[in-house]
Amino acid sequence: MIRAVRRIIFAVSLTATFAAQAPAATSGESLYLGQCSFCHGKDGEGGRGATLQRRILRHAPDEAALRLVIRRGIAGSSMPGTALSDSEIDQVAKYVRSLGRRTIRPLPGDPNRGERLYQGKGGCPACHAVSARGGSFGPDLTEIGAARSPAYLRASVVEPGAEVPRGFVQIRAVTKNGGQITGARVNEDTFSVQIRDAGGVVHSLWKEDLNGMNVDLGKSPMPSYGSVFSKDELDDLVAYLAALRGTR
Ligand code: HEC
Ligand code: HEC
Repeated sequence: MIRAVRRIIFAVSLTATFAAQAPAATSGESLYLGQCSFCHGKDGEGGRGATLQRRILRHAPDEAALRLVIRRGIAGSSMPGTALSDSEIDQVAKYVRSLGRRTIRPLPGDPNRGERLYQGKGGCPACHAVSARGGSFGPDLTEIGAARSPAYLRASVVEPGAEVPRGFVQIRAVTKNGGQITGARVNEDTFSVQIRDAGGVVHSLWKEDLNGMNVDLGKSPMPSYGSVFSKDELDDLVAYLAALRGTR
C-alpha cells in the first residue's frame, strides 16, 4: 500500500518535471525534432524526406489529409507511419504548417541551363524518365523535386549510393548451374526473388535453384557526376531537378 502511494507520488512529480521542461506550446516542435527532423531537416528544409517549407503540400492539401499522411505514412516511399496519439499528431501537424510559412531561400542555380545539362552533357534520360520520356533503369524523376530536398538531390548526383531507394538495391544471384544475374531487387519473399537486369528484363528465380545471393547494399549502378560538372553546373542541375514537381 505504502509502496503504491510512493509510486504514484513519484509518477506525479515526474510528470510535473516533464511538463515544466516541455511546455504545451512547443511539444509539436519537440515531437517533430525527435521523429521527423531526421528525414525532413531541423527546419523542414528537407533531406531524404520532402521539403516541408511550403504552404501547399502535395500529399496534404488540407488538415485532415495532413493528419492522415502523418498517421499512415506514404505508401511506396520511405515516409513511415507513426504510433503517435491523436493529440500528438495534431500538434506535429500544426508545427508542420508553421514550417510551411517560413520563407524559402531561393536556389542559386538556373533551371533552364540545368535542363540542358540534364539532357545533354549528363545523359540522364538514358536511365531516368521525366513525364514518361526517358529510360526506366533508374527511378522516375517526374516528381523528384517534391519528394526530395535540394541537398539530397545534389548528393544523389555527386555520390550515388549514399542512399539507394527501395527497389533499386543491387543484388547478384548465382544459380546452381553456374549462371549469374545482377540487377535491382524488385521483390523478394521466402521462396523466390525477382531481379531486374540492366536491360530492364525481370528475372524471377526460385531460391532453391540458387547457390547464393549477394546484396550489394550501398552500391549504386548510377555513375558519379562529382567530377563531370563544375560547381555552377551542379547548382543549375539541382535547380532543374528541384523544379520537377509533376506539373510539367
Ligand atoms: C525515414 C524518413 C522519414 C521520416 C522519419 C518522416 N518522413 Fe515524412 N516523408 C518522407 C519522404 C521520403 C517523403 C516524400 C514521399 C513522396 O512524396 O514520395 C515524406 C513526405 C512527408 C509529407 C508530405 C509532403 C508533401 O509535400 O506532400 C509530410 C507532411 C511529412 N512527410 C511529414 C512527416 C512528419 C510530421 C514526420 C514525423 C512524425 C515524418 N514526415 C517523418 C520521409 C520521412
Ligand atoms: C546508368 C544509368 C544512370 C544514369 C546515366 C543516371 N542515373 Fe540517376 N540513378 C540511377 C539509378 C539506378 C538510381 C537508383 C539508385 C541510386 O539512388 O543510387 C539513380 C538515382 C538517382 C536519383 C535519386 C532518386 C531517388 O529517389 O532517391 C537522382 C536524383 C538521380 N539519379 C539523378 C540523375 C541525374 C541528374 C543524372 C544525370 C546527370 C543521372 N541520374 C544519371 C541510374 C542512372
